[in-house]
Amino acid sequence: MNKYIIKQLKEENLNDYRDIRLELLKTEPQNFGSSFEDEQKFEMQRWIERIIKSNILTLGAFHNEILVGICLVVYNLRTKTKHVADINSMYVKKEYRNQGIAKQLIDQSLEACKSKGIEIVNLSVVTINDTAFNLYKQLGFKVYGEEPRTIKHKNKYYSLYLMSKNI
Ligand SMILES: CC(C)(COP(=O)(O)OP(=O)(O)OC[C@H]1O[C@@H](n2cnc3c(N)ncnc32)[C@H](O)[C@@H]1OP(=O)(O)O)[C@@H](O)C(=O)NCCC(=O)NCCS
Repeated sequence: MNKYIIKQLKEENLNDYRDIRLELLKTEPQNFGSSFEDEQKFEMQRWIERIIKSNILTLGAFHNEILVGICLVVYNLRTKTKHVADINSMYVKKEYRNQGIAKQLIDQSLEACKSKGIEIVNLSVVTINDTAFNLYKQLGFKVYGEEPRTIKHKNKYYSLYLMSKNI
């Protein structure tokens, strides 16, 4: 039996969601466009919106009721782009990695997208993040472009692979 449960986060998970989001920004600053310094100043309302907004699906992986991983799907609301969704904020706590949790989170994100009639799912990954890049490749995402030097952290630039999957 699978020891991890994937479910949509609700307002009751707000504090755990905020903690894990700030943890990923603090521990993996080069892998995300946002920063710990910016988000730790966010008002509670802004965190709540990320969970309750109708165009955002925040999935969490739980182990014994502890939130150990997250993944966000953002749906487009505009008529001409609503067949496209984005995945971001993919993170699994260090001590829970290499057990297939990220794979499960993405699989369920893709299922949710399919059930909404989404046809294309996009994401981006820092070009030197081999672990995440391999994961996305293995799950069928293909590189369609490269965005040079998009993230600047501690005076170092990081480029992004733009990846896409037809579902
Ligand atoms: C990327 C990340 C989410 C993967 O989470 P995970 O739960 O360990 O991943 P999984 O166990 O589901 O692994 C799935 C696949 O990812 C790849 N992968 C996982 N760990 C890897 C490693 N150490 N080296 C290379 N590839 C790896 C493999 O393709 C693996 O498939 P396999 O087990 O069949 O070989 C996790 O390492 C993480 O949170 N990293 C820091 C944050 C980050 O980089 N997020 C992505 C931002 S785009």
